[in-house]
Amino acid sequence: MNDNLHQLRCIGCGELISGSDALPDFRCARCGDLFEVEYAGWSQRHGHDRPNPGALKWLWRERRSSLETLDQSGVWRFRELLPILDSFGNAVTLREGNTPLYPLIRTAKTLGMDKLFAKHQGMNPTGSFKDTGMTAALSVAHERGFEWVACASTGNTSAAMAAYAARAGLRSLVLIPEGKIAWGKLSQAMDYGAVTCQLKTDFDGCVRVLTEIVLEAPIYLLNSVNPYRLEGQKTPAFEIAEAFDWTVPDHLIVPGGNLANSSALGKGFRELYELGLVARVPRISVIQAEGANPLVRSFAASNGAAMEPVEAHTRATAIRIGNPASWRKAARVIKETGGWCLDVTETEIAIAKAELGAEGLGCEPASAVTLAGLKKLRADGKVAPGETVVLLLTGHTLKDADYTIDFHRGTLLNEQEIAGHEADVNALRRNAVSVDATPSAVLSALKGSA
Ligand code: F0G
Repeated sequence: MNDNLHQLRCIGCGELISGSDALPDFRCARCGDLFEVEYAGWSQRHGHDRPNPGALKWLWRERRSSLETLDQSGVWRFRELLPILDSFGNAVTLREGNTPLYPLIRTAKTLGMDKLFAKHQGMNPTGSFKDTGMTAALSVAHERGFEWVACASTGNTSAAMAAYAARAGLRSLVLIPEGKIAWGKLSQAMDYGAVTCQLKTDFDGCVRVLTEIVLEAPIYLLNSVNPYRLEGQKTPAFEIAEAFDWTVPDHLIVPGGNLANSSALGKGFRELYELGLVARVPRISVIQAEGANPLVRSFAASNGAAMEPVEAHTRATAIRIGNPASWRKAARVIKETGGWCLDVTETEIAIAKAELGAEGLGCEPASAVTLAGLKKLRADGKVAPGETVVLLLTGHTLKDADYTIDFHRGTLLNEQEIAGHEADVNALRRNAVSVDATPSAVLSALKGSA
């Protein structure tokens, strides 16, 4: 069966190439920009030739009760909108996607809103949103017969890649910045059998080294410059639209690191709109950490037309990225959807993360920028009380347990960072206490916490 219907279009010069003609670094040979997957015929098809929206919506929902492996994936159950494989039989899946959409009742009340939700992509098999992109791109690597796959990573991509490679029987090479990724993520790469190299550089340095490697050796690059990653990462847009019965929310708020995820979600909603499955697209806003904010600076300086790399610093290690590859794609999504791009401080991230923890959800620090950003947007009057807003939580709280423990022990933020936020921080901190092994000692600890 040949299910493959796609080509790759350069977002810079418009060059159209076939998928198998992409260079190993996925850069355009003409202008050096990135590619986007395009499906032959979607835009030209009219009337009866176009996919039938009602039939697709019915089929995708039916698959949720199917016993077929592919149908049980929250990525591949939407396979009509990602025909990137010659045969879907080659898909490598860990039953990713189908993640929960939780109402954030307490946080909504505090912010004076009624409809606030968290789409928790940390509930994926390896604990982050990267699984949805990895099932797509690794399946392409598998189908094309590669033995080795590789990525540079701040931790989550490497965890996902190592797991999917192991499932497919491929070898994987991970380049990570030494000492700058959370232990949970490093442990996953080891556990799933990757060759893990810690380089004495940052994420951007790891990307530079890996780009040179793939131009020399037959290793398939699985960073998000690989456009197939984005095809998987667009599917949460379909899940969100489906969860709202195909009336999309007003606003989606996404963390920004290498800026592929915001790009992918924008593509997902755009395709739903172009195919007539939804009547509009949500506003998509991107939030960065203040110390790793090249896109925010780009919007301030040139409304997203040019970007200067920065040296990145933030405790939200997942988004410690100074030279994001997909910035042009993300800038386009923000502008086309009327979203905003803003940054938040380390203190705002820590407080927002603790608030999401206190809602019983939890997430990793990089995910919490979404709530910190929403608070700013509410304060600036850019989000109205009646709007439906979805925060995209990208990673599981257990990914970076050290950060959480440091916050609750009071060792995360320094005095300067806490100044002015004492009340918020103290209300949220729940340190573990050592007590004698007697009921009365435990009961008095209870009284102390009231
Ligand atoms: N949130 C988490 C938990 C992440 O791991 C990342 C990126 C992002 C947000 C930002 O997404 O890069 O698409 O803008 N992590 C990468 C990695 C870079 O290597 O795991 P983005």
